[in-house]
Amino acid sequence: MIPDETIAEVLSRIDIVALVGRHVTLKKAGTLFKGLCPFHDEKTPSFTVSPTRNTYHCFGCGAHGHSIKFLMEVGARNFPEAVRELAGECGVEVPESRKESPEQREARSRKKSLQRRLLDVQDLLTTYYSDQLFGSQGAGARSYLQGRGLSADAATAFRLGWASGDKRAFATFIEVNKIDRDDLAHLGVLLPPDEGWQDTQILGGGYLRFRERLMFPVVDFRGDVTGYSGRILDSRKKIAKYMNSPETPVFTKGEQLYGAFTARSIARRAGRVILVEGNVDVVSLWQKGLQGTVAAMGTALTPEQVRLVKRLSSNVVCVMDGDEAGIKAAFSSLIPFLDAGIQPRAVMLDKGEDPDSYILQHGAERFTSLLDSAVPLLDLLIARAQETHPADPPGRLAALRSITPALTKLTDPLALELYRDRLTRELNISEAVIDKAIAEANQVSNKAPIKQRRDPEPRQDLPPVPASFEPPPLPDGRFPSYTGTEQRQLPQENRRKNDLFSPPGYISELFVFIVQYPSLVRALHAGGGHKLLTQPSLAGFVLNLYEVVSGGKTPNMDLLLSKVEHPEVVAFLRNCQSKEPVLGSDEVQVAFSDALTRLERGAFEKQVRRLNSEISQTYHSDPDRCAQLRNELIDVKTRLMALNQPKVELDA
Ligand code: UTP
Ligand code: MN
Repeated sequence: MIPDETIAEVLSRIDIVALVGRHVTLKKAGTLFKGLCPFHDEKTPSFTVSPTRNTYHCFGCGAHGHSIKFLMEVGARNFPEAVRELAGECGVEVPESRKESPEQREARSRKKSLQRRLLDVQDLLTTYYSDQLFGSQGAGARSYLQGRGLSADAATAFRLGWASGDKRAFATFIEVNKIDRDDLAHLGVLLPPDEGWQDTQILGGGYLRFRERLMFPVVDFRGDVTGYSGRILDSRKKIAKYMNSPETPVFTKGEQLYGAFTARSIARRAGRVILVEGNVDVVSLWQKGLQGTVAAMGTALTPEQVRLVKRLSSNVVCVMDGDEAGIKAAFSSLIPFLDAGIQPRAVMLDKGEDPDSYILQHGAERFTSLLDSAVPLLDLLIARAQETHPADPPGRLAALRSITPALTKLTDPLALELYRDRLTRELNISEAVIDKAIAEANQVSNKAPIKQRRDPEPRQDLPPVPASFEPPPLPDGRFPSYTGTEQRQLPQENRRKNDLFSPPGYISELFVFIVQYPSLVRALHAGGGHKLLTQPSLAGFVLNLYEVVSGGKTPNMDLLLSKVEHPEVVAFLRNCQSKEPVLGSDEVQVAFSDALTRLERGAFEKQVRRLNSEISQTYHSDPDRCAQLRNELIDVKTRLMALNQPKVELDA
């Protein structure tokens, strides 16, 4: 956690007019400054900055906040990143949350300054490559770009360059700029000779990684060039089409998105991010006005990249190249997306097409309507499973199994139900089989969530649960509806409804604590967590439990469970009850509050998803409502980020 005083200090020291002025052209108007709003499209300025209040406010879209929020929104930073960055600018020291030894501290600051130096070197390099592109050596590369319909403006916006591979020119460049050869070796740009630098030779005898390649700098959200992707001009050559920077202190494969910087504010404003495969696609779409586009740089999308995509927008449209590799890449991104709570939509291009060739041939308008026609990637996966597997029983089963891992990731029980329905019909498979396959996939993906028990002492608050549990009759003599037999007799409709209860993992975790240590229900209440439970039976159970516990009595779980209406919820709670007590009692409090945080986070994330989808629905039809939703979204996200803060800090 960053202390409040630090945040207050940053806010008071940062000049908000100067900060905003880097992104918006401001004109003084009385005590305010005015400009065109960076958060919505407008032609007359309704965006204001008040140096006295230290805030910005847009009368058009309602965007409002202080300097930290501005940087988060316009620069796609998360909260701690924004605070740290601004703190650095105005000389406020942000205390470290971890206890560090002086050596660790020293090592960390050394690493930071190495990274900064390397990024500065790459900035110079990027200018060097760009100068080569626009200079005499770059004629071939320029005509290549022209041949592909890429303008000089696009080349400038993406800082494209030409690495001629001319060692002499490179040697002059590093001499003039006093660049250290070791830094270039660190960046993988200059490969040192085995025998060590030879000062009698050009570049110390080392050789250049990028030779005769069109350079695509990878620019992060801050605008720093973290690495390169260099393309050969002639694809017929029998060498890899792209050569990328190796792993360096500032570049990690799978943790970068090509186009992040150019896409950042536009994707956020449009409430949509387009994910393509090729670097060229990103530049080409940008030039045609589709500027919120990023590419994964040839790797299967990683969770880290999903996190970056999510900073742009949760409304993702993947455009898949029309080849096997493209289809495979897109489908492999489905799970990491769903894991992050994103349900991506996708379009598949015809065989041999990619976004670049499509937009060149059909124009931006057709491309935009293609995007609008995108369907959930999961739907495409289902369609594909049907196409590629035979319709005989083994084939149908294989098709089902290729889909179930994704189904287990659906957090919305209604969505899961819809897809189950659909599979029943389309694959001609019974619900029972589908459920079994889902359970099977669940087992595979469920790694044991909490540590092994460390404290062998049995819990004391609860009597042991008999193995075969017979519920007591209800007061009117009826047996409650959760006995096995009765459940089987439920009419189809009811059974469905009951099957629907498959809460996300954090709910299970929370309830393992609550049924095993019922007194914790007080903490749940105190933190307002009970209000976040959306399943009525579960909420009712918590309420009843709370009444008993707060009345100072020892709860009788069986009695409480007998009052729960949904058999599935009862089954769920029983399951929580039968799990081993997972922690020693002194750790329970900590682990419980952890689980509580996850509950809150889950609820916020759900709100974010809902708001995002409403925002994209109202974006054209109802701008006022959309602006209002946007503000709500910012609030929820801010709270979410505050919640995430300690976690983010740990790996910072
Ligand atoms: P593509 O082959 O689709 O590249 O690979 P592209 O950018 O569309 O290039 P053009 O249209 O043929 O000029 C998709 C991405 O995969 C990575 C690159 O990031 C590329 O943009 N890639 C591809 C590599 O890293 N290495 C390769 O050898 C090929
Ligand atoms: Mn391409």
